[in-house]
Amino acid sequence: MSSIFDAVYQKSLDDPHGFWGEAATGISWSRKPTTILDDSQAPVYRWFSDGELNTCFNALDRHVRAGRGDATALIYDSAMTGNQSRYSYAELTELTARCAGAIQNLGVTKGDRVLIYMPMIAEAVVAMLACARIGAVHSVVFGGFAANELAKRIDDATPTLVIAASCGLEPSRVVHYQPLLEEALGLSVHEVPKVLMVQRDAWQAPMREGRDYDWSVEVPKAPMADCVSVAATDPLYILYTSGTTGQPKGVVRDNGGHAVALHWSMQHIYDVGEGEVFWAASDVGWVVGHSYIVYAPLLAGATTLMYEGKPVGTPDAGAFWRVIEQYHVKVLFTAPTAFRAIKKEDPKGELLLNYATDSLSALFLAGERTDPDTLHWAQQKLGVPVVDHWWQTETGWAICANCLGIQDLPVKDGSPTKPTPGWNLCVLDEAGNPLPPGELGSLAVKLPLPPGAFPTLWNAPDRFIESYLAAFPGYYNTGDAGIIDEEGYAFILSRTDDIINVAGHRLSTGGMEEVLADHPDVAECAVLGIADAMKGEVPMGLVVLSAGVTRDHAEIVNELVQSVRDRIGPVAAFKLAAVVERLPKTRSGKILRATIRKMANGESVTVPATIDDPAILIEIRQVLDTLLGR
Ligand code: COA
Ligand code: AMP
Repeated sequence: MSSIFDAVYQKSLDDPHGFWGEAATGISWSRKPTTILDDSQAPVYRWFSDGELNTCFNALDRHVRAGRGDATALIYDSAMTGNQSRYSYAELTELTARCAGAIQNLGVTKGDRVLIYMPMIAEAVVAMLACARIGAVHSVVFGGFAANELAKRIDDATPTLVIAASCGLEPSRVVHYQPLLEEALGLSVHEVPKVLMVQRDAWQAPMREGRDYDWSVEVPKAPMADCVSVAATDPLYILYTSGTTGQPKGVVRDNGGHAVALHWSMQHIYDVGEGEVFWAASDVGWVVGHSYIVYAPLLAGATTLMYEGKPVGTPDAGAFWRVIEQYHVKVLFTAPTAFRAIKKEDPKGELLLNYATDSLSALFLAGERTDPDTLHWAQQKLGVPVVDHWWQTETGWAICANCLGIQDLPVKDGSPTKPTPGWNLCVLDEAGNPLPPGELGSLAVKLPLPPGAFPTLWNAPDRFIESYLAAFPGYYNTGDAGIIDEEGYAFILSRTDDIINVAGHRLSTGGMEEVLADHPDVAECAVLGIADAMKGEVPMGLVVLSAGVTRDHAEIVNELVQSVRDRIGPVAAFKLAAVVERLPKTRSGKILRATIRKMANGESVTVPATIDDPAILIEIRQVLDTLLGR
């Protein structure tokens, strides 16, 4: 029997023009689109191609004009500094307009890129919206990345301006952003002419005359800039994400499709609207932060909550419950790893009893598969629907979810429920043929992708086609493998490439291998993700040393750990590495990473028929047992 949800889903596939045309009426356009879906350049599709709008206007000004200027747009809560602030729609609009004026004064115009390197402070939201206001393209870089990664992004995006903060605050230390930025500016080929700096109380950064400008001086005195109308297909932002190599992919988001899809998602997926408090406990450096800390809640006229802190240790595992109670949060969105961290500290959920969390109506989880233990714990402790939903930086919003605003479907353990409207999800075999229900294959989405999904990669239209569209003509290859069961429920089981998810952060093992291979004593190496009870996965490296190297192995391992931290960043959490005599390979010389991973995870391993020398597996097992303390 077809459900309400199934009917909505089917309509989205049968009549995408009608479906998304109607959704587009939720957005204020300076020029209403007459073309809903432009397929003239297929397989590259564009949504609302003759429409014009301004995303910042839709996120801020229009709510003020509708008489909701006093409603709270942004709540900022820092568990690190104790700062708790509220910004009404009117206040956030004025601040953003002044920031937009300030960056115009610093030479930024429509189409220019602005790189934002900031921790979880309200100014990061203001900076992003200010770029959108004047049609500049922001590129936010997560603070946990090292200078080298920042430099790669500077060279790819070639920004006119960097907006940064002096420092970020982690529980164990102050992270000095400015020296990392300075190092990145030295490493990059592209010359960044100007830097706008937020000086935080915890550490004041030195300023370079003629290049660096102080936010607290420039923004208040700047004139308020008006919203600039842009084409629906103009880029709103570039967000770099890990690919299979060390060169990150610049995922491009357009203005029109993004605004329509995110606005639609707030009501239909999250069931949150005007005046309700939505909290995405993520970071503005990730796609979750872009979509659900900044844009979607504001497009919907809701209140968004920005939290600087951790789920545990700031000060304890009751931190999330405190925030929910204090601000009457309706929906919380975070990664399963945050709940595993809370569960580990407070297994019985005793701290929950100290807070009234009855405002909460649902918990959404993403970034990695929600394991059944975490799902059950959260369901039982919170007593609200817990929704595992699956998405990617590329897609910008959920491919699969239990759409609470349409119909609360029964959930199945380990499944992010069903494909969301607009996503024609299929399971394909290696030749690209659709597989029957229950069979494992590549998860691919039949084109066109719905609005809000990326139309291309920055500076790399060919890589966009090669990486995502070439494997299965007519489909977007998600890079995830899984099944869809008889009832249409999807199960996301693994990546088909060498991307891993560490505490919900997406990282490339290929990128880490590039760093290890650069060590002068390393002849070859393999990095793979192994299971971790808290972070889901953590990277582990095995290296073979060059002939004649007699140095102490522990010393080399320390250098390798440090170089991944220095070149990729602490967020990679690369702490496990060992020296081996040889790596297991096929006769054609391919390293058997999947076999090593299974052995590390303690799974049973059938010796691959193609292995060059099965005896190596015994040596590898011994090394793994020592490394993993078994
Ligand atoms: N700037 C600088 N450094 C950062 C950083 C930032 N914005 N964010 C993290 N780091 C550093 C941390 O300090 C840590 O460094 P360390 O090795 O010196 O301890 C390292 O990067 C790893 O950080 P993290 O992944 O946060 O792990 P953790 O062990 O500090 O905390 C959790 C574990 C589960 C509490 C944490 O990962 C968490 O809160 N996750 C929530 C989920 C989430 O944000 N997901 C994002 C996608 S939804
Ligand atoms: P990111 O681009 O950082 O959002 O990472 C996207 C990848 O994270 C996906 O391709 C999946 O491998 C994984 N992922 C995200 N959400 C889920 C989920 N709910 N279930 C399973 N895997 C997920």
